[in-house]
Formats: sequence, C-alpha cells, structure tokens
Amino acid sequence: MTTPNARQRSVGGRTPAQQNAGAASAQTAFLLPHLKPGMRLLDCGCGPGNVTLELAKAIAPGQVVGIDIDPGILAVAEKNRAQGNVRNVKFQTADVYALPFEESSFNAAYAGALRGHLSEPLRALREMRRVLKPGGLIGIRDADFAGLLVWPPCEAIQKAHDVYWKVVQHYGRTSGFSRDARAILREAGFARCVGLAFYEYLGTPEETRAYAELEIRFTEQQPYYRVALEQGWVDQAALAQMREELRAWGEHPDAFFARSLCAAIGWKEA
Ligand SMILES: C[S@@+](CC[C@H](N)C(=O)[O-])C[C@H]1O[C@@H](n2cnc3c(N)ncnc32)[C@H](O)[C@@H]1O
Repeated sequence: MTTPNARQRSVGGRTPAQQNAGAASAQTAFLLPHLKPGMRLLDCGCGPGNVTLELAKAIAPGQVVGIDIDPGILAVAEKNRAQGNVRNVKFQTADVYALPFEESSFNAAYAGALRGHLSEPLRALREMRRVLKPGGLIGIRDADFAGLLVWPPCEAIQKAHDVYWKVVQHYGRTSGFSRDARAILREAGFARCVGLAFYEYLGTPEETRAYAELEIRFTEQQPYYRVALEQGWVDQAALAQMREELRAWGEHPDAFFARSLCAAIGWKEA
C-alpha cells in the first residue's frame, strides 16, 4: 500500500482551475494514489463540487456520484460541472445517513469537511461502509482548527470557526475536529486505517473571495447555524456583521488563509 506524502503534495500541483474555495487538489492528494481509472466513487457532502470534479479526473472513465443534503449547493456544483465540461459526475440530493444506493455499489467513498455538520458521524461512516464493495476504500478529511492561520486578522472567520466548534461539541464529539480521523474510521468498522495531516491555503483574490462567499452562505443556510441561533451563541445581528466582515476580508488584496487538516484512509475488508 502506498503511503502518500500529503504535505509535499499539498504544496505542489496547484493549477488555475483551483481558484475555488478549497484548493481541491491539496484536499484529495492523500486519496489519489489509491484511486484507479474505472472506479465508481461516492462523494458525500460534496457541497459545490470542487473536490468531486477533481476526483472525477482520477477515476475517469468511472463515475463519481456527489451527494449533498442541500439542493441549492448542488445547483452550484452542477454549474461548476457544466463549466468544466466534466461528464463522469452525477450530483444527487441525498442524506448521508440514508444513502439511496444498494449495498456494495461503490469502489471508493469520500467525505471532505462533512463530519462537523453531522450529529452522528459514526452512523454516517457506517452507512458509507454499507454501500462500499468488499475491498472498497474510504477517505475522510476535515479541518483541525488548532492550526488556523489568517491574515489580515478577521474576527468573523474566527467566530465562524468557533460556532462550528461549539456545534461539534454540542453534538457530543470531544476529541477535536479531525485528529481522531483514523480512530473514527476504525470504530466504524474499517480496516488497515492510516492517518495523515497537511495544510490547505488560499492566497489568490479568487480563492479568498470564494472562501468568504462560502462561509457567508453557511451563515445563511447551514443547519449548524440554526443550532447556534437556538442555543443563543449568535443572533441575527451578529451574523449580519460576520457576513459584512467576511465579504471585506475576502476582497482584501493581502487576504491569506491556511488551516491544518487531518485525514484518514481505511478499507472495507474483502
Ligand atoms: C463544508 S461542505 C464540504 C464540501 C466539500 N465536500 C468540500 O470538501 O469542499 C459540507 C457539506 O455537507 C453537506 N451536508 C450536511 N449534512 C449532510 C447530510 N446529512 N447528508 C449529506 N450532506 C450533508 C452540507 O450541505 C455541505 O454542503
């Protein structure tokens, strides 16, 4: 089995196509050595699809199915797919807890930045395991916010991360954002689990603007903000101010953002 050098890969290989929030290649580098042309891959919580489209290149002519619970974000993903003229990707509205697929439908599964959105990440991973073929591979990757680097300082970014962290804790996860990725895969029944870490960074106007817009969208639509509002951790006035600050930061000519990510890979035993 290859052990990818994710740190090295995350620094190299950036292309103009990565002018989207997320620097997709860096985020998938840990998984790419394990993907093969012709595989069928499921991307859970695919969001705007930047990563999904990157994965599609790796498994072409195989198909990637990107699912997300938010049909609005899937409309953005579909637009991105059409713009890139990527043909081996299908987006579908679905809940990761109840995937509309038979057992043993996929060779590989991926979930990036999904875990913090879930109240029961373990149940979601078990459901992903169900739809994998024996011998199939899973990759998960989430930020670990202890390693957040932002310039110029932006309170709204810190606040957005604080809210996310509080909701994750509220959901009962106490072991950090993602440094326990290897452990949770093993707990979900995967074998030969491997843990990795790397940095993602946004340092062009297009990237910082897109990131700011994504965070703004989350304040408006993501369920975890509803939890934060219900709990009184934020109110509508604070969210409006955050959106203003995020927009200004995203447009700042010096804006730079970097954060650490932890990932893990595991297999469904054949
Ligand atoms: C932070 S985005 C990640 C997008 C993409 N995977 C990436 O790494 O850039 C998390 C996505 O998970 C989706 N999501 C949240 N709960 C979900 C669920 N129960 N089932 C499927 N998707 C869900 C959200 O709608 C959101 O688009």
